[in-house]
Amino acid sequence: MCGIVGYVGGQCALDVVLAGLRRLEYRGYDSAGVAVLADDGGLAAAKKAGKLANLEKELADRPLPSGPTGIGHTRWATHGGPTDANAHPHLDNAGRVAVVHNGIIENFAELRAELAERGHALASETDTEVVSHLLSESFSSCGDLAEAMRQVCRRLEGAFTLVAVHADEPDVVVGARRNSPLVVGVGDGENFLASDVAAFIAHTREAIELGQDQVVELRRDGVVVTDFDGAPADVRPYHVDWDASAAEKGGYDYFMLKEIAEQPKAVADTLLGRIDETGTLSLDEVRIPAAELREVDKVVVVACGTAYHAGLIAKYAIEHWTRIPCETELASEFRYRDPILDQRTLVIAVSQSGETMDTLMALRHAREQGAKVLAICNTNGSTIPRESDAVLYTHAGPEVAVASTKAFLTQLVACYLVALYLGQVRGTKWGDEVRGVVRELSEIAREVEEVLETMEPVRELARSLADKNTVLFLGRHVGYPVALEGALKLKELAYMHAEGFAAGELKHGPIALIEKDVPVVVVVPSPRGRSVLHDKIVSNIQEIRARGARTIVIAERGDAAVRPYADHLIEIPPTPVLLQPLVATVPLQVFACELATARGNEVDQPRNLAKSVTVE
Ligand code: G6P
Repeated sequence: MCGIVGYVGGQCALDVVLAGLRRLEYRGYDSAGVAVLADDGGLAAAKKAGKLANLEKELADRPLPSGPTGIGHTRWATHGGPTDANAHPHLDNAGRVAVVHNGIIENFAELRAELAERGHALASETDTEVVSHLLSESFSSCGDLAEAMRQVCRRLEGAFTLVAVHADEPDVVVGARRNSPLVVGVGDGENFLASDVAAFIAHTREAIELGQDQVVELRRDGVVVTDFDGAPADVRPYHVDWDASAAEKGGYDYFMLKEIAEQPKAVADTLLGRIDETGTLSLDEVRIPAAELREVDKVVVVACGTAYHAGLIAKYAIEHWTRIPCETELASEFRYRDPILDQRTLVIAVSQSGETMDTLMALRHAREQGAKVLAICNTNGSTIPRESDAVLYTHAGPEVAVASTKAFLTQLVACYLVALYLGQVRGTKWGDEVRGVVRELSEIAREVEEVLETMEPVRELARSLADKNTVLFLGRHVGYPVALEGALKLKELAYMHAEGFAAGELKHGPIALIEKDVPVVVVVPSPRGRSVLHDKIVSNIQEIRARGARTIVIAERGDAAVRPYADHLIEIPPTPVLLQPLVATVPLQVFACELATARGNEVDQPRNLAKSVTVE
């Protein structure tokens, strides 16, 4: 949610900043803007509503001077509509300081009134603009941009990542961080600041993660980090283990297509190194002592969006394999209902980005109540794992498309691993059982590959439904969260009315929605094992078909019982019941992506959405 870039070094800052913004556009695309410090000592800025391409067009018509220091921003609007005036950077009245911001400054109205009284003229409706004016005042009295930033931050309430430049300190970029992410890229004779390492990965893989309430002063040859009071801060340097090519489209039309195709590898990578030489599951990063895990009497999974659906599936695996009661809850609802938590509660926070504000706030609440928090996260060093007691990283690699795909599958793998690990530690699963499931998990990568090879009929079907208004999704057991995820994907990408239901709940209301030719996607559990589930859903398919629905059935290869009732049959490889979501979700991703394309929608950047939602 809002992408920020800062640069100081030997290259043309504008080029570096624009390239960085291209990589961060997934974070928001309501407007984009840049500011550079020109060689002649002036500050020049340009900003434009809409996607980065609009700004680039503007810059082609009215180029900015080249200089070695610059900042940039791509916006997901909160305060003030997506207009040119509300686009970042925001300048002070003298045009000497420029600021970009990610987050929400909660006391901005009060600060704005105060500034107006002192004669400042504010030109936008944003909360951000107050910062440029406050910085300008502080800089006038102290003459040091980092110190001015510290003074201003002490006055701000809310969540803010800020990056600023001042024409009187042309070789300095200053950043500040509270809650929203900010990472330093450490180069040779050049340094970078960004919301995400993707912005500077083409230049350096050495990074420093800024902590909560820190200010960073960036010069060509050094980086100084302090807290908001000016005391030197401990920093945590790390090496980014993927390179620029991982963040490119690699020949695909959309990042989403590339990320769907990368799923077999993402699943396999997430399993890598989790089993030790004795065949025991060893999750090194789970630093919660085994004795404490044995004491856990309740598990709560908190997450948002697609990650929440992974959490819903985790509940089935955790309860089945460990016999510990498990609840899965939307992070945005969690803390407001005063949940019952104590030292024996294990909270699992699932997040691709590691910066979703609702999930972060839920985990903070859980820790305040004494619960242990384990993060399942895809982004190394991000806020959610930093603030958790332990972390299990998924190894999906960078996910750029706003609609989550490979991150979801790897979240599932991580949830299964955590469930098995808990079972192993608590003795509810024997070693050979754990190894058996891990072996089955290891085979899933190949099965996902198989599904991907048979997707042409799904694409064809999706194109044939481009003019429909509604698609419904049904599932039972772990197929129910899969149905929810299929519906979410379709809403996000195709902007269609799509709803997921528990198939058994259909008769209690939703069946009224069924009319002639309404497409209904049904996720069918394996006919082996829990065949009662299977039989029940076959009846549900007949019920909706009798009422005119067009049935699109996702079923295990060789499931003869569903065949007569499927207008369209999508076959998936046989898998153990609990693991089926890993293969059943894939056709739904392809379906949504193709429908979005057929309807002329932007696949990677759906309207109104952002990939990382850093506001509550
Ligand atoms: C946003 C994204 C979703 C994502 C959700 C949670 O809404 O558009 O795709 O599932 O945030 O994100 P997280 O990074 O916490 O997994």
